[in-house]
Amino acid sequence: MSAPHSHTHEEPASFAFDADSEAQIAKILARYPESKKASGVIPLLYVAQKQMGRLTGSAWTPRIAMDTIAERLGMAPIRVYEVATFYFMFNTKPIGRFHLQVCGTTPCWLRGSDEVLRACKDAGHLKGYGDTSEDGIFTMTEVECLGGCVNAPILQVDDDYYEDMDYDSTVKLIEALKRGERPTPGSVTGRQGSAPIGGAETVLDIPMADVKE
Ligand code: FES
Repeated sequence: MSAPHSHTHEEPASFAFDADSEAQIAKILARYPESKKASGVIPLLYVAQKQMGRLTGSAWTPRIAMDTIAERLGMAPIRVYEVATFYFMFNTKPIGRFHLQVCGTTPCWLRGSDEVLRACKDAGHLKGYGDTSEDGIFTMTEVECLGGCVNAPILQVDDDYYEDMDYDSTVKLIEALKRGERPTPGSVTGRQGSAPIGGAETVLDIPMADVKE
Protein backbone atom coordinates (compact mmCIF):
# COMPACT_ATOMS: atom_id res chain seq x y z
CA MET A 1 0.00 0.00 0.00
CA SER A 2 1.58 3.24 -1.04
CA ALA A 3 0.76 6.82 -0.18
CA PRO A 4 -1.29 8.70 -2.76
CA HIS A 5 0.79 10.18 -5.50
CA SER A 6 0.55 13.14 -7.81
CA HIS A 7 2.81 13.36 -10.80
CA THR A 8 5.17 15.98 -9.42
CA HIS A 9 5.10 18.07 -6.34
CA GLU A 10 7.05 20.80 -4.65
CA GLU A 11 8.40 20.35 -1.19
CA PRO A 12 8.16 23.45 1.00
CA ALA A 13 11.48 25.11 1.87
CA SER A 14 10.68 25.44 5.55
CA PHE A 15 8.37 24.06 8.21
CA ALA A 16 7.72 25.11 11.79
CA PHE A 17 5.05 23.90 14.18
CA ASP A 18 2.49 26.61 14.96
CA ALA A 19 1.09 27.39 18.41
CA ASP A 20 -1.81 24.92 18.05
CA SER A 21 0.57 22.14 17.14
CA GLU A 22 3.03 23.03 19.90
CA ALA A 23 0.23 22.75 22.47
CA GLN A 24 -0.61 19.26 21.17
CA ILE A 25 3.05 18.26 21.11
CA ALA A 26 3.53 19.31 24.73
CA LYS A 27 0.69 16.96 25.73
CA ILE A 28 1.98 14.11 23.59
CA LEU A 29 5.56 14.28 24.81
CA ALA A 30 4.40 14.39 28.44
CA ARG A 31 3.39 10.73 27.96
CA TYR A 32 6.95 9.53 27.45
CA PRO A 33 10.11 9.62 29.54
CA GLU A 34 12.76 11.87 27.97
CA SER A 35 14.88 8.89 26.91
CA LYS A 36 11.90 7.32 25.09
CA LYS A 37 10.53 10.40 23.39
CA ALA A 38 11.08 8.83 19.95
CA SER A 39 7.88 6.89 20.75
CA GLY A 40 6.05 10.11 19.92
CA VAL A 41 6.97 9.88 16.24
CA ILE A 42 3.57 8.71 14.98
CA PRO A 43 1.53 11.27 16.95
CA LEU A 44 3.91 14.03 15.86
CA LEU A 45 3.57 13.01 12.22
CA TYR A 46 -0.18 13.35 12.67
CA VAL A 47 0.26 16.79 14.21
CA ALA A 48 2.42 17.89 11.27
CA GLN A 49 0.00 16.48 8.70
CA LYS A 50 -3.00 18.11 10.33
CA GLN A 51 -1.19 21.44 10.55
CA MET A 52 -0.52 21.27 6.81
CA GLY A 53 -4.22 20.58 6.28
CA ARG A 54 -5.18 23.51 8.47
CA LEU A 55 -2.77 25.97 6.90
CA THR A 56 -2.66 24.89 3.26
CA GLY A 57 -5.86 22.87 2.71
CA SER A 58 -3.79 19.78 1.90
CA ALA A 59 -3.10 17.39 4.77
CA TRP A 60 0.27 15.93 3.89
CA THR A 61 3.64 15.50 5.55
CA PRO A 62 6.49 17.18 3.70
CA ARG A 63 10.01 15.90 4.14
CA ILE A 64 11.07 19.07 5.93
CA ALA A 65 8.36 18.38 8.53
CA MET A 66 9.80 14.90 9.03
CA ASP A 67 13.23 16.47 9.51
CA THR A 68 11.75 18.86 12.08
CA ILE A 69 10.24 15.89 13.94
CA ALA A 70 13.53 13.99 13.81
CA GLU A 71 15.32 16.90 15.36
CA ARG A 72 12.65 17.38 18.03
CA LEU A 73 12.73 13.71 19.00
CA GLY A 74 16.48 13.20 18.70
CA MET A 75 16.08 10.63 15.93
CA ALA A 76 17.92 10.07 12.67
CA PRO A 77 15.73 11.53 9.88
CA ILE A 78 15.71 8.17 8.06
CA ARG A 79 13.89 6.59 10.99
CA VAL A 80 11.10 9.16 10.65
CA TYR A 81 10.95 8.63 6.87
CA GLU A 82 10.66 4.89 7.45
CA VAL A 83 7.62 5.33 9.67
CA ALA A 84 5.97 7.94 7.43
CA THR A 85 6.35 5.84 4.30
CA PHE A 86 5.30 2.57 5.95
CA TYR A 87 1.86 3.66 7.21
CA PHE A 88 -0.60 4.61 4.50
CA MET A 89 -2.31 7.20 6.71
CA PHE A 90 0.62 9.53 6.15
CA ASN A 91 0.57 11.33 2.84
CA THR A 92 4.08 12.04 1.64
CA LYS A 93 2.79 14.05 -1.32
CA PRO A 94 0.13 16.78 -1.43
CA ILE A 95 -3.49 15.62 -1.53
CA GLY A 96 -6.85 17.23 -2.23
CA ARG A 97 -8.86 19.06 0.41
CA PHE A 98 -10.83 15.89 1.17
CA HIS A 99 -9.20 12.48 1.33
CA LEU A 100 -11.61 9.79 0.19
CA GLN A 101 -10.38 6.44 1.46
CA VAL A 102 -12.31 3.55 0.01
CA CYS A 103 -12.02 0.27 1.89
CA GLY A 104 -11.71 -2.51 -0.67
CA THR A 105 -10.98 -5.44 1.64
CA THR A 106 -13.19 -8.53 1.42
CA PRO A 107 -16.08 -7.65 3.81
CA CYS A 108 -16.48 -4.20 2.25
CA TRP A 109 -16.04 -5.62 -1.22
CA LEU A 110 -18.74 -8.26 -0.61
CA ARG A 111 -21.03 -5.50 0.62
CA GLY A 112 -20.58 -3.27 -2.44
CA SER A 113 -17.35 -1.27 -2.18
CA ASP A 114 -17.08 -1.37 -6.00
CA GLU A 115 -20.20 0.80 -6.09
CA VAL A 116 -18.65 3.22 -3.58
CA LEU A 117 -15.58 3.42 -5.80
CA ARG A 118 -17.74 4.03 -8.89
CA ALA A 119 -19.64 6.80 -7.12
CA CYS A 120 -16.40 8.47 -5.97
CA LYS A 121 -15.15 8.43 -9.55
CA ASP A 122 -18.40 9.82 -10.98
CA ALA A 123 -19.19 12.48 -8.40
CA GLY A 124 -15.63 13.39 -7.45
CA HIS A 125 -14.37 13.44 -11.05
CA LEU A 126 -11.60 11.03 -10.23
CA LYS A 127 -9.93 8.64 -12.63
CA GLY A 128 -9.03 6.02 -10.07
CA TYR A 129 -7.05 5.30 -6.96
CA GLY A 130 -4.20 7.75 -6.35
CA ASP A 131 -5.91 10.45 -8.40
CA THR A 132 -6.58 14.01 -7.29
CA SER A 133 -9.44 15.83 -8.99
CA GLU A 134 -8.47 18.73 -11.22
CA ASP A 135 -10.18 21.22 -8.92
CA GLY A 136 -8.00 19.92 -6.06
CA ILE A 137 -11.01 19.05 -3.90
CA PHE A 138 -10.66 15.27 -3.70
CA THR A 139 -7.95 12.66 -3.57
CA MET A 140 -9.01 9.03 -3.58
CA THR A 141 -7.02 6.10 -2.27
CA GLU A 142 -7.82 2.46 -1.65
CA VAL A 143 -7.22 1.37 1.91
CA GLU A 144 -7.15 -1.98 3.65
CA CYS A 145 -9.66 -3.01 6.32
CA LEU A 146 -10.57 -0.03 8.50
CA GLY A 147 -11.84 -2.23 11.30
CA GLY A 148 -15.44 -1.20 10.67
CA CYS A 149 -16.51 -4.29 8.66
CA VAL A 150 -19.66 -4.82 10.67
CA ASN A 151 -21.08 -1.70 9.01
CA ALA A 152 -19.46 -2.34 5.62
CA PRO A 153 -18.86 -0.85 3.18
CA ILE A 154 -16.94 2.03 4.72
CA LEU A 155 -15.82 5.26 3.09
CA GLN A 156 -13.39 7.19 5.27
CA VAL A 157 -13.24 10.94 4.61
CA ASP A 158 -10.19 12.39 6.34
CA ASP A 159 -10.70 10.99 9.88
CA ASP A 160 -14.43 10.30 9.62
CA TYR A 161 -16.06 6.94 8.86
CA TYR A 162 -19.20 6.89 6.73
CA GLU A 163 -20.80 3.47 6.99
CA ASP A 164 -23.33 1.27 5.17
CA MET A 165 -22.56 3.18 1.98
CA ASP A 166 -23.91 2.49 -1.49
CA TYR A 167 -23.72 4.33 -4.80
CA ASP A 168 -26.42 6.89 -4.05
CA SER A 169 -25.33 7.69 -0.50
CA THR A 170 -21.74 8.14 -1.68
CA VAL A 171 -22.77 10.57 -4.39
CA LYS A 172 -24.90 12.45 -1.87
CA LEU A 173 -22.00 12.67 0.58
CA ILE A 174 -19.58 13.91 -2.07
CA GLU A 175 -22.03 16.55 -3.29
CA ALA A 176 -22.48 17.73 0.32
CA LEU A 177 -18.70 17.99 0.79
CA LYS A 178 -18.50 20.08 -2.39
CA ARG A 179 -21.09 22.46 -0.94
CA GLY A 180 -18.92 22.86 2.16
CA GLU A 181 -21.17 20.73 4.36
CA ARG A 182 -19.90 17.99 6.62
CA PRO A 183 -22.60 15.34 7.13
CA THR A 184 -22.58 13.53 10.47
CA PRO A 185 -20.30 10.48 10.27
CA GLY A 186 -21.55 6.98 11.07
CA SER A 187 -24.15 4.77 9.44
CA VAL A 188 -25.93 6.51 6.59
CA THR A 189 -28.84 4.10 6.93
CA GLY A 190 -29.48 5.11 10.51
CA ARG A 191 -28.33 1.81 11.96
CA GLN A 192 -27.81 2.20 15.68
CA GLY A 193 -24.13 1.58 16.43
CA SER A 194 -23.35 -1.85 15.03
CA ALA A 195 -26.76 -3.36 15.78
CA PRO A 196 -28.17 -5.71 13.12
CA ILE A 197 -29.98 -4.09 10.23
CA GLY A 198 -33.56 -3.95 11.44
CA GLY A 199 -32.57 -3.19 15.01
CA ALA A 200 -31.27 -4.95 18.07
CA GLU A 201 -32.27 -8.61 18.41
CA THR A 202 -30.70 -9.59 21.69
CA VAL A 203 -30.73 -8.39 25.28
CA LEU A 204 -34.22 -7.04 24.72
CA ASP A 205 -36.12 -8.65 27.54
CA ILE A 206 -34.09 -8.40 30.73
CA PRO A 207 -36.38 -6.98 33.36
CA MET A 208 -34.52 -4.06 34.90
CA ALA A 209 -35.18 -5.52 38.37
CA ASP A 210 -32.84 -8.42 37.51
CA VAL A 211 -29.97 -6.19 36.49
CA LYS A 212 -27.46 -6.07 39.32
CA GLU A 213 -25.55 -2.85 39.81
S1 FES B 1 -13.17 -4.77 5.28
FE1 FES B 1 -13.73 -2.68 5.17
S2 FES B 1 -13.76 -2.11 7.24
FE2 FES B 1 -13.08 -4.16 7.32
